[in-house]
Amino acid sequence: MAIEIGRRFDNRPLTLPWPGCPHILVAGETGSGKSGALNMIIGAAAADPDTAICGIDLKLVEQWPWRDRLTTCATTTETADLLLVYLRQLIRDRAEFLQGHGLRMWEPRFGPWVLVVIDELAELAGLDPDALMAAALTGDNKDVLRNGRNAAQVRIALLGSLARLARFCGVTIVAATQYPSAEVIDQQIRTQLTIRIMLRVASGEQIDVCLGRGYGKRIGVRSIPVEQRGGLWLAGHPDNPEPVRGRAHYVDDQAIAARVDQTRHLAYPPEALFNLTNQEPQGADQ
Ligand SMILES: Nc1ncnc2c1ncn2[C@@H]1O[C@H](COP(=O)(O)OP(=O)(O)OP(=O)(O)O)[C@@H](O)[C@H]1O
Ligand SMILES: [Mg+2]
Repeated sequence: MAIEIGRRFDNRPLTLPWPGCPHILVAGETGSGKSGALNMIIGAAAADPDTAICGIDLKLVEQWPWRDRLTTCATTTETADLLLVYLRQLIRDRAEFLQGHGLRMWEPRFGPWVLVVIDELAELAGLDPDALMAAALTGDNKDVLRNGRNAAQVRIALLGSLARLARFCGVTIVAATQYPSAEVIDQQIRTQLTIRIMLRVASGEQIDVCLGRGYGKRIGVRSIPVEQRGGLWLAGHPDNPEPVRGRAHYVDDQAIAARVDQTRHLAYPPEALFNLTNQEPQGADQ
């Protein structure tokens, strides 16, 4: 199976392998179509009965329409941290299971493939706005800044470390950001997000970061016009790593609502996904 995310200019489909997809970075300036691209990926994965979907959306709005098909949608840094801890445990359990059975790669017959969708990676790495607000009221934000930075580092380190094992254990991470550059996106995570969906970005330097050194000069920021929302370059596809120009399909709110209606019965509740009763995954010996 493959997920069609859009079309090339010659109308051939742009696809991602599914399940088993490597981690994906979706980069683009504000309004370029990042959330649109995420919606399209969520929508395609939602139709797969063997896929569980978890969201991290600190902006609160983008993933909410999908909530009935999601296992969970973390909208605060606290719940995001909790989700990352659960995912880490899931990945550990699955790694142990694979090792115990002499297997190298997770298969859907052992349990659902997990899609983790992060809308704005920088926010996940950033300070907690609620804590900052509270600190502003008391007039002392030193601790918040210090703790915030520490917490953000821990969170991002956690994400980076779980990303490394994740794909072999049936977890694909898709992360969107406005700021693909080095100061914002930790190198360790960025190198794990090998598929790049680059929408319109602000500079040649960002193109270099997304597609590889030299592409900023070769392609240029004008290669995607402002008015062409969803215009993209897809790079790092396992079958075709070279950047390919195309445009993402668009799922509007009505289409999302319809897709959720068709697929809500496929949602995996948290207790079913996160193995909270400590059962062994099923199916390896069958
Ligand atoms: N593939 C597409 N085809 C046509 N229109 C699109 C497409 N993707 C997005 N749009 C339009 O562009 C608008 C902005 O897109 P979107 O919200 O995805 O941007 P964004 O990059 O997530 O912005 P932000 O950084 O502000 O979250 C959408 O409301 C939609 O109208
Ligand atoms: Mg968005």
